Amino acid sequence: KMKKLQIAIDGPASAGKSTVAKIVANKLSYIYCDTGAMYRSVTFKALQNHIDLNDESAIVKMLEDTEISFAPGNPVQKVFIDGNEITDDIRTPEVTNSVSTVAALKEVRSILTDRQRDIAGKGGIVMDGRDIGSAVLPNAEVKIFLIASVDERAERRFKENQQKGIKTSLETLKKEIEVRDHKDSTRKVSPLTKASDAIEVDTTSMGIDDVVNKILEIVENVRN
Ligand code: CDP
Ligand code: CDP
Repeated sequence: KMKKLQIAIDGPASAGKSTVAKIVANKLSYIYCDTGAMYRSVTFKALQNHIDLNDESAIVKMLEDTEISFAPGNPVQKVFIDGNEITDDIRTPEVTNSVSTVAALKEVRSILTDRQRDIAGKGGIVMDGRDIGSAVLPNAEVKIFLIASVDERAERRFKENQQKGIKTSLETLKKEIEVRDHKDSTRKVSPLTKASDAIEVDTTSMGIDDVVNKILEIVENVRN
C-alpha cells in the first residue's frame, strides 16, 4: 500500500493555492485543509462580535470556544463555525482586508497551528496556507511554493469577483494583494516564507490543470 504523504502548499495571496490543492487532494483521495479559511473564520467571527482585532486575549477567548469545520463543496470547500455555514461570509472584502491583522497574533497562530496538525495527522493530507511547509508541517514530504506575478494574481481575483458580482477595480485589488502580502511576509510569527526545501512553481502563465499536473509530477518524484 502506498504511503500517505503530507503535501504542503504555500504562497502569496491569489496564487491559486486553494484551487489546485483541492483538486490534487481529490486526485490522490487525500483530505484537503484550507488554513486560510481558518484565519478568515476567526476574523469573521471577531468582526461579527465587534471584538477589537488587536485585542489578542479577547480573540483567543473567543477562539477557544469556536469550532471551525469543513465539508466538501464546489467550487470551494464549505466552511462552518459552530455548525453555521459561513463559506461566502469569509470571502468578503471586509474579512479579506482584516485577516492579516488577526493572523499576526501569536496565540491565535499557536491555537490554529495545533488544530491544523491534528487535522494533518500522519498523512494523506494536502494543506495550503502561508506557513505550512515552514512551521505547521516542517516534516511534510512534499512542499510546494506557488507564485505568480502580482498583475496575474490581481487579474485572477478580478475575474473571480466578476463572477460573484463584486465590483472592486483591478488597481484596488492589486494594491490590496500587495498590502496583504507585505503584512503576511513581515509579521514576527511564522511569516509567509518559502521553506528551504520547498519547490517553487511560477504559475504566471500556467492554467489550473498545468499546475495540478506539475504538483502530481513532483509527488511522483518524491515517491520514487
Ligand atoms: O485565498 P487568499 O490567498 O486570499 O488567502 P487565504 O489563503 O484565504 O488566507 C487569508 C489570510 O490568512 C492570509 O492573507 C494570511 O494573513 C492568513 N494566513 C496565515 O497567516 N497563515 C496561513 N497558514 C494561512 C492564511
Ligand atoms: O488560494 P489562493 O488565494 O492562492 O488562490 P485561489 O483562490 O485558489 O485562486 C484564485 C483564482 O485564480 C481562482 O479564481 C482560480 O480559478 C484562478 N486560477 C488559479 O487558481 N490557477 C491558475 N493557474 C489560474 C487561475
